Amino acid sequence: MSLDITPVEKGKAVHFKNPPIAFFNAIGREEGMKELMYDFYDKIYESDIAHFFPQDENEFEQVKEKNTKFFIQICGGPKVYEGESGGMDLNEYMIRIHDDFSITEKSRIEWLGTMREALRDKAKHVDQELIEEFWDYLENFSKLTVNTFSDGSTYYAAYTQADEEN
Ligand code: HEM
Repeated sequence: MSLDITPVEKGKAVHFKNPPIAFFNAIGREEGMKELMYDFYDKIYESDIAHFFPQDENEFEQVKEKNTKFFIQICGGPKVYEGESGGMDLNEYMIRIHDDFSITEKSRIEWLGTMREALRDKAKHVDQELIEEFWDYLENFSKLTVNTFSDGSTYYAAYTQADEEN
């Protein structure tokens, strides 16, 4: 599976397309998405970005649950994350959530690499084309979560730098 990562460029507009409902169906809808996301977070805890996430088991469980709900909805599934985002566009809300953390390109690459492993383990039954569409969303959208750069500068992406192609 070749799921590539292209570098983030500070301040540059990012183009992305939400993942297709076909990916959600193929992964196994709510249950399948839950398995993928729980596996992803188990791997996160073994990764170089583990320190970003809560160490408390109950708090960690909440992050796993919210993350699962977000991905169900962003793929066009049931609107189970609506209550969290308070009606705000989901992607705009995600940029804001991540502004509370200092995320570098290195962390983004670790996050994506971890997700790639979870997909290898949990999406074996899904068509390659659908995995690639899901990946394209992650790979592009994740650029808007990077807010801390190697020269020490910070830059918080505005939602206006996102160009959704839906
Ligand atoms: C495609 C890119 C990404 C998506 C879609 C995404 C999605 C999410 C979601 C849905 C949540 C839970 C939000 C909630 O509380 O309701 C979350 C939390 C979080 N994400 Fe991401 N994320 C992405 C990239 C990253 C990256 C690159 C990092 C790098 C470290 C990161 C770090 C975090 C942290 C630290 C939290 C909060 C955990 C807490 O509540 O303590 N995320 N993310």
